[in-house]
Amino acid sequence: MKETLEKLKETSIDLIKNAVNFDELEKLRVRYLGKKGELTTVLKGLGKLPKEEKPIIGKLANIVKLEITDLLDEKIQTLEKKKLEEKIMKESIDITLPGRRLDPGRIHPITKILMEIKEVFVGLGFAVVEGPDVETEYYNFEALNIPVDHPSREMWDSFYFKPGLLLRSHTSPVQVRVMEKQKPPIKIIVPGKCYRRDSVDATHHWMFHQLEGLLIDERVTFADLKGVLLEFARRIFGKERRAKFIPSYFPFTEPSAEMAIDCFACNGKGCNICKQSGWIEILGAGMVNPKVLKAVGYDPEIYNGFAFGLGPDRIAMLKYRINDIRLFYDNDLRFLEQF
Ligand code: PHE
Repeated sequence: MKETLEKLKETSIDLIKNAVNFDELEKLRVRYLGKKGELTTVLKGLGKLPKEEKPIIGKLANIVKLEITDLLDEKIQTLEKKKLEEKIMKESIDITLPGRRLDPGRIHPITKILMEIKEVFVGLGFAVVEGPDVETEYYNFEALNIPVDHPSREMWDSFYFKPGLLLRSHTSPVQVRVMEKQKPPIKIIVPGKCYRRDSVDATHHWMFHQLEGLLIDERVTFADLKGVLLEFARRIFGKERRAKFIPSYFPFTEPSAEMAIDCFACNGKGCNICKQSGWIEILGAGMVNPKVLKAVGYDPEIYNGFAFGLGPDRIAMLKYRINDIRLFYDNDLRFLEQF
């Protein structure tokens, strides 16, 4: 009996070790461990053995059974590993296939023009400052010498949360906020969003952008204003640009002006971009009104300066030849992907 078992062990281990696929392994499992398997038969026959042999043979048979089971498991794992390796080999990556394109997204045209404009002014020594979109009437109007009967103060021209609190209608309130906190010299630009109850059309939107500028020091002149703004215009629209300053009115500057540049599309000859006039108005500006300086505690006898406000939406429309402001805010990728 013992010899039979030992023989069985030897052959089965040999066969299992040499099996090359799952089919063969399964056949071997049935052959030895199946219901009518060789080892099963031995175990079943234990009862017929003489008493003193039973425990010895029984023990041996169980050990053999364990060894065969372990070996079978081991072999299955080896075969599975081999199968996986073969699969991986076959599936090797085809590096001749073009990769899947990952679209990284683009910079919004307004952000882009803001980056360009900021670079110009930062290069001229201006610091970039921001202020709140929700503003008090004091900063949005009073401190800027905007009279009570000014139309922008009306409920239907601005967005009010409650009396005294509204979405800012321009970035000029940040002038006051900064002057209250700092002493001259001041040299800042303020990019940001503004809100007005305009009906939306190709050139108006209830939300748009402004970039405010403020320079306060001793003995600042209108020539300084012209120099800075002409430099800006040339850096954005071409170094051959000329500028003209047209008298205008803002309550917080005195004197005030609109700056126009000769048309960069036709060099001033007249085309549809400049509406045949040869000139394009691009910003409002002026010398800071002494009343504004007094309101923040500056002595207008010592300090003065200039301020300007320009519209990045309009600058972008001109520079990138976009004919409808709504395109910036529609979120249409066919438009945005062009930048
Ligand atoms: N705040 C003005 C506007 O919204 C623009 C401006 C700013 C004019 C600074 C002069 C100086 O129209």
